[in-house]
Amino acid sequence: MKKQTISIGIALGFMAGVCACTPQLGRDSDERVVAAMTTEEKINLLVGTCLDFPKPPMPTPNTIHRPAMPSGYDDQDFVSSVRMQGRVRGSAGQSYAIPRLNIPAIVFCDGPVGVRIDTFATAFPSTCLLASTRDTALVYRVGQAIGEEMLSLGVDILLAPGMNLMRNPLCGRNYEYFSSDPDLCADIASAYVRGLQSCGVGACLKHFAVNNQETYRNGIDVQLSDSLLRTLYLHAFERVVKEAQPWTIMSSYNRINGVFASENHYLLTDILRREWGFGGFVMTDWWAEEDPVRMQQAGCNMQMPGTPDQKEQLRQALADGRLDEAVLDSNVADVLRIIRRTPTFRGVTYDGQPDFEAHAALAREAAAKGMVLLKNEQQTLPMTQIAQQRVALLGVGSYNVYVGGSGSGNVTRKYKVSLVDALQNAGCLLDTQAVTMYKNYVQTELGKQPAENFWCVPTVAEKAIAMPELNRLAQDNDIAVLTLQRMAGEGADRQLVKGDYYLTDTEQALLTNCVAAFHKQNKRVVLLLNIGGSIHLTDINALPDAILLTWLPGQEAGNAMLDVLSGKQPPMGKLPMPFYYAYEDVPSATNFPWSDGDANKVCYREGFAQPARTLYPFGYGLTY
Ligand code: GLC
Repeated sequence: MKKQTISIGIALGFMAGVCACTPQLGRDSDERVVAAMTTEEKINLLVGTCLDFPKPPMPTPNTIHRPAMPSGYDDQDFVSSVRMQGRVRGSAGQSYAIPRLNIPAIVFCDGPVGVRIDTFATAFPSTCLLASTRDTALVYRVGQAIGEEMLSLGVDILLAPGMNLMRNPLCGRNYEYFSSDPDLCADIASAYVRGLQSCGVGACLKHFAVNNQETYRNGIDVQLSDSLLRTLYLHAFERVVKEAQPWTIMSSYNRINGVFASENHYLLTDILRREWGFGGFVMTDWWAEEDPVRMQQAGCNMQMPGTPDQKEQLRQALADGRLDEAVLDSNVADVLRIIRRTPTFRGVTYDGQPDFEAHAALAREAAAKGMVLLKNEQQTLPMTQIAQQRVALLGVGSYNVYVGGSGSGNVTRKYKVSLVDALQNAGCLLDTQAVTMYKNYVQTELGKQPAENFWCVPTVAEKAIAMPELNRLAQDNDIAVLTLQRMAGEGADRQLVKGDYYLTDTEQALLTNCVAAFHKQNKRVVLLLNIGGSIHLTDINALPDAILLTWLPGQEAGNAMLDVLSGKQPPMGKLPMPFYYAYEDVPSATNFPWSDGDANKVCYREGFAQPARTLYPFGYGLTY
């Protein structure tokens, strides 16, 4: 017995001894931890854990529409099974754990309007709405609320904010960005990052850099002068790096003057680290296809979500001398420095129960404060007696609100409030025939489409209403409220067609005839715009008596719209980008989404040009 005890004692001592001399992250210096790592461990840490989500089809030149997902790709069982590999279901990726060195796996989730996971989180208003508020204290609170939800849901890094400039109104992800102006973008992004990181979680500025379109985003060569790059397109990133110290940055898919951003030493090391003093780590955008060896050498620390092939390429490069292991050591050190700051490393336990009620109230407040009043003839708004007014509620968008756009930034939410819900909850006198007709139509049309998933938000075409019915509505009601809407999202740019940048014939007729019918009765028409970026309003701007730009207002959309329409929250939003008089007035119009007929390149020839003619200029917004 004694001998067994001794041998066990020696074994435990040895184990303790190994533990004692095996460097531990947080206990020992990072340098010692790096020195103790095997080459394989370094490679594993610098490539995401390869959640074996198959790579979706990547765009090719001349493909202006997002390639369709392979059949079954969105199959919930498949997706769930893959995502089960992650500690947090629905996360976008994870890093590699090395327990013997006390290095945990950390979790990355998308934003930017909330924590995108498979269950649900609060869907805050779109970021271009946040920019419309100009209210950095409010945006700080939104960032903080998202950070609180990250803590509760077990998320370490949020892949947000997206902060590319709105170079052209047709960019599919403008709803996920802030502004066409670099300083407004920086003001709002800084507040967002400081609020989020005040919770001890990390932000990720994206997409670094000059990712101002979705068309062929993973291969297009963006050609621009160094002064334009630095003064306009890097300015907001520079300010946020210096003002808010983001933990991470995501390199963009595109090339910049011939070199992929993720392989761009000038961008990622010379400018970002040596000039700006960035102290975090850089990750690729998901499935960026470039050479992991060149990425590591450029200062792109982590390939996400990671593939086995990327690991093999690094092994080979080390073996044949194309890659110096000292490069990996430096990139590993950057990653460890951030891992040590994460809630996971700090052992924060999470309960999955954020204060959703408080955050819903904040989402409603922010949405209402970011809406922009574009027109208000004869004090049509506010509708101070809204509960007593007989309202003809028209437009599919009044019954099926778009709370956000599509793509990785589409947050799964517990509910959404459309305008009809808010008005009915407030006891408003809605025209029952209109409500019944629209509800039936929307339900039928949505029933013909697949359920929403983050890549695809079902859309319903506007419904025509004949003139006799519009005349009846004008006789039976006191005012008309009509919503027009647009969906947009990642992977494809918007198009210069009816139904996107332009109104459809049905929308044009509905608005024109509704105004004619109600004006004949000396009654008013309010137009709401549930859109994520500017559209062509010049032809219809004179028609309605009031125009309220609601953007994509998050899950509390309808309640926020009610708060502004009723005057409970006077509109305070100011446009974060111009609404152009005509598309031809857009400075980049002749160089979007490519230049000289070559789908492999886009030249930023517009330089610092300001728009020649705007219908509503940057900064415009009325109030009451
Ligand atoms: C996507 C997006 C990026 C997102 C990432 C993870 O391709 O470009 O914004 O954070 O992949 O979903």
